[in-house]
Amino acid sequence: MNVVVTNSYDESCAYVADMICRLVNEKPDCKLGLATGGTPVPMYKKLIEANQAGKVDFSKVRTVNLDEYCGIPATHDQSYRYFMNTNLFDHINIDKANTYVASGMGDPQANAAALEAKVREGGVADLQLLGIGNNGHIAFNEAADKLHATAHIEKLTESTIHANSRFFEKEEDVPTTAITMGMGDILAAKCVVLIATGLAKTEAIRGLVMDDVITTHNPSTMLKMHGNVYVVIDRELADAVGYKG
Ligand code: GLP
Repeated sequence: MNVVVTNSYDESCAYVADMICRLVNEKPDCKLGLATGGTPVPMYKKLIEANQAGKVDFSKVRTVNLDEYCGIPATHDQSYRYFMNTNLFDHINIDKANTYVASGMGDPQANAAALEAKVREGGVADLQLLGIGNNGHIAFNEAADKLHATAHIEKLTESTIHANSRFFEKEEDVPTTAITMGMGDILAAKCVVLIATGLAKTEAIRGLVMDDVITTHNPSTMLKMHGNVYVVIDRELADAVGYKG
């Protein structure tokens, strides 16, 4: 695992944006696995700037998002489709027909099967971007006694509902289930890049970078089984974790 320690969160975002731009420049029709949450937002801003400055062309890029809430439509301002449109897709020259965010409406099992098919369609992701939950969840694969390999419906934990309630008017408005790629879908990507910042992520990142233990109670630790992972953290978080490398 490559642990990259930067001087600041802004530098972490620049590092990851640069990785993505280099990939897109080398392989214009690459497939990106994309993530939501607060963490990647400034990184997406850097991609928008690079695109608008003519430094990167997304016209042939294909994307598949990790997850989506169940029970809210794509037009809802907290849906992950809405998030991706407003934070990235509306501002770059991507063809939205080449972007996929699972549907949280309708038949959940059919939606999970459709997401699973998209993960594999035309080959696996060249790069999968990840954030991380306070409890170590990646996408919506929650910390639990067992994890799932493929796309499925997940019941969200209190911790995740609470953490994500900051984006909603009240905690009761946060959906309690979500559709998510499974662990095998994430691990299938050719390269996985996780960005984390903030002291709330300390325990999760400690479990990820400080030893070789793999536990379903910190799903991110399964990334230790992948040969091409970048964990990008800033010095503040690295210090809190006790990471010296
Ligand atoms: C949600 C998303 C995850 C994300 C996590 C952390 O639960 N499903 O993909 O990594 O939130 O989000 P944040 O970056 O806002 O801390």
